[in-house]
Amino acid sequence: VGAIGSMVVRHALERSYWVELVGAVDSDPAKVGRDVGDVVGLRKEVGLTVSATLDEALEGREADLVVHTTSSFLEKVTPELERAAEHGLDVVSSCEQLSFPYYTNPTLAERLDLLAKREGVTILGTGINPGFAMDVLPAVLTAPCLNVRAINVTRKMDASNRRVPFRRKLGVGMNVEEFREAVRNGKITGHVGLGESVSLLASALSWKLEEVRVGEAQPVISLGKARDLRTAVEAGRVAGVKQTAVGVVEGRQAISHTFLAYVGAREEYDLVEVDGLPKVISKISPCVHGDFGTVAMLLNMAPKVLASPPGLLTMKDMVLPSAFLPSL
Ligand SMILES: NC(=O)c1ccc[n+]([C@@H]2O[C@H](COP(=O)([O-])OP(=O)(O)OC[C@H]3O[C@@H](n4cnc5c(N)ncnc54)[C@H](OP(=O)(O)O)[C@@H]3O)[C@@H](O)[C@H]2O)c1
Repeated sequence: VGAIGSMVVRHALERSYWVELVGAVDSDPAKVGRDVGDVVGLRKEVGLTVSATLDEALEGREADLVVHTTSSFLEKVTPELERAAEHGLDVVSSCEQLSFPYYTNPTLAERLDLLAKREGVTILGTGINPGFAMDVLPAVLTAPCLNVRAINVTRKMDASNRRVPFRRKLGVGMNVEEFREAVRNGKITGHVGLGESVSLLASALSWKLEEVRVGEAQPVISLGKARDLRTAVEAGRVAGVKQTAVGVVEGRQAISHTFLAYVGAREEYDLVEVDGLPKVISKISPCVHGDFGTVAMLLNMAPKVLASPPGLLTMKDMVLPSAFLPSL
C-alpha cells in the first residue's frame, strides 16, 4: 500500500460488487497495524489492518488474487511472487520488469513459470507503461496491417501531476552533476521498462529481435517555467528525463521508443506510428494518465487473470484487454 497500492485499494473498495478486500501488506513499519482506510488516505476505517507479511494477512482468511505493487525489479519481487504462488494466489503486478521478464532474466522467468504451473496460479505483470502505452497499444494497432516495416512510439508527459515516487525516480530537482552521479550509481533508474516494452511488442508480432539498445536516462533541464508552482523546478536544475530504446530486427532498427517525462512538458501525448501497409498513426492527447492508467490496468486485468490458464503470462497472452465494468 504505497502510492499505487493505496489507489488500488481506494478504487477496489468502489467495486464491492466484484472485489472483496481481505487484507493489505506493507513492509513499512509505520503502516503495519494501522487500519487500511487510514493508510490509503480514506476518511473512514475499513476494519482491516495492514499486515507485515502476506502470511500474516492470510491468517484465517481466503483470497483469490494479489494486486502486487512493491518494486520495479524482477529479482526483488521474485520471493514475493513465489510466496503468493505457494499460497495458491493469482498475481497481477505493476513490476515493470515482470511485464516481459524473458528480456530481463530468462532463467528467473522460467523458474516463476514452472512454479506458477505447479501451483496452478497465473502471474501477470502489467501497468500503463510497460503494460499498455508503448507495447500493447502499438501491437493492437498493427492488427489491420498486411506488413509492418517499422514502429515508432513516443510517450511524453508532464511529471508535475504525477505521484512523488515517480518524480523522485526521475531525479526531479537535482543539479545535472548530482543527476549523472545518481544514474552512474543506480540511484536514478530513469524509466524502467523500455527494454521490456520493445521486447513485448516484438514478441507480439513474432519478430526475432537481434538486439535491444536501451539508452541511459538523459536529463531534461528546467527552463523554470512550470504551470504548477507547487512542483516548479528552478531553472538549470533537472526537470525530468528523456530516454530511448530501439529494437533491431533483420539488421535494421524496426522498433524505436522515446520516453519523455519532465515537469513543465507542454504537450502530453502517446504517439504510435506504424510504418506498414496501410500506415497507422494514432495520437492520444493528452497521454493516458500514468497513475490512473496503471491502477485501472491492474483492476481491469484481475478478472482476466483469474480466468487465464496457470503460468507466468505476459500481456500478449491475455484475451483482449479492456475495462471490466459489469456495473456502470
Ligand atoms: N508498469 C507500470 O506502468 C507502473 C506504473 C506505476 C508504478 N509502477 C511500479 O509499481 C511499483 C509501486 O509504485 P509506487 O509508486 O506505489 O511505489 P511506492 O510508493 O514506493 O510503494 C511501494 C510500497 O511497497 C512496499 N514494499 C516494498 N517491498 C515490500 C515487500 N516485500 N512486502 C510488502 N511491501 C513492500 C514499500 O514499503 P517501503 O516504503 O518500506 O519500502 C512501499 O510502501 C513501483 O516499482 C513502480 O515503479 C509501474
